[in-house]
Amino acid sequence: MTNDRLTNPLTDAEVAKLREQFPILGRKGRDGKPIVYLDSSATSQKPSRVIEAEAEFYRKHNAAVNRGTHMLGDESTGAFDMARETVANFIGARPEEVVWTKNATEALNLIAYSMSNASSGMGGKEAERFRVGPGDKIVATRAEHHANLLPWQELAARTGAEFAFLDLEPDGRIDLDTLDVIDERVKLVAFTHVSNVTGAISPVDEIVAAARKVGALIVLDTCQSSAHLPINVEELGVDFAVFSSHKMLGPTGVGALWARYELLEAMPPVLVGGSVIANVTMEKGIYLPPPAKFEAGSQPVAQAVGWAEALNFLSEVGMDRLAAYEERITRALIDVVSSVDGVKIIGPANADNRLGVVAFTVDGIHPHDVGQYLDSESVAVRVGHHCAIPLHRFFGVRSSNRASASLTTTLDEVHRFGEALAHVRGFFGGM
Ligand code: ALA
Repeated sequence: MTNDRLTNPLTDAEVAKLREQFPILGRKGRDGKPIVYLDSSATSQKPSRVIEAEAEFYRKHNAAVNRGTHMLGDESTGAFDMARETVANFIGARPEEVVWTKNATEALNLIAYSMSNASSGMGGKEAERFRVGPGDKIVATRAEHHANLLPWQELAARTGAEFAFLDLEPDGRIDLDTLDVIDERVKLVAFTHVSNVTGAISPVDEIVAAARKVGALIVLDTCQSSAHLPINVEELGVDFAVFSSHKMLGPTGVGALWARYELLEAMPPVLVGGSVIANVTMEKGIYLPPPAKFEAGSQPVAQAVGWAEALNFLSEVGMDRLAAYEERITRALIDVVSSVDGVKIIGPANADNRLGVVAFTVDGIHPHDVGQYLDSESVAVRVGHHCAIPLHRFFGVRSSNRASASLTTTLDEVHRFGEALAHVRGFFGGM
């Protein structure tokens, strides 16, 4: 989506009210200064009601799901099913298309390993479209974090397929001139919705059209978009999308794979064991229909319940209004970072079609030193390669700092960050 669809932003007063619901934002940091949390791309903070929902599940309803007939089992199974329905509604999908995973990384690996299994003959004729081998191509982009890069490199290595990638414009946006990498040999195209380094929103329609033309499967990584933009998997037109709870105000330890139901039906399972079978003999198992087929063993039930509460919170706020508000914050972040001498943004230097994920370098100062100085001013940013080494290499750096916003980031916080950043070079004697 483009930013011009965003109207009616949350007001500053509404954001102030929302902030009161995040206990951690009331904490003081170094020297008693309020913490400016600009690391939401790494993990989001959680409102009280999410923390409570998880605790409440353990306090009142905890029992194994889908096993047994007692009252607590009914309640826990009901809460678990409701959580799946909430995730499905939030992303415009059907509950049976949502598979729990422990995180988005696992969801991406699930697709890759299912394709490996299909390539070794598992799943029979039905699984043919998931088979890859010599002569086939798997495509990602140079903008991926490692979670959406390594599974595809490894799938190619295991099966003898070729791994190729869409390249980037100098500012890190996906270069549409490289779309011709997606040719008739391509079986799968995986790409991020929003880069976790440059904040650029990917040209979803163009990539989807190119992949559809050659009949390739399409995987979208929403780790950096789903807490910041309205997401509807049908409108996005992809085949698979992966989600991370802890980046969406929810608990750690749970994520989801969404896929079109007919794909889930045809894909071979990956992890097998309890809960995935309709029947078992001493020779083999007969698998349940999706999503159960992919959910072996005990699932992250309390975490799923907490995540659902986070999505209820986001829905009540309104993703359109949240996105419109964050657009203002993105512009302010870019303005303050670009206004400091010797600081360079890694990624697009304007706020169009990008989110508030702003990576930057400071001339002559190591990102760890920058991070430490900002921390001394109680400003929390990420430091390092952000699990995206090839992307950093593309920009000619080994690492960077990254400020990333969320619905609770205020203009005042952005200015505090800007003031601290303006003092970094002076502090280290660099100017
Ligand atoms: N997704 C993690 C981050 O961007 C790697 O911090």
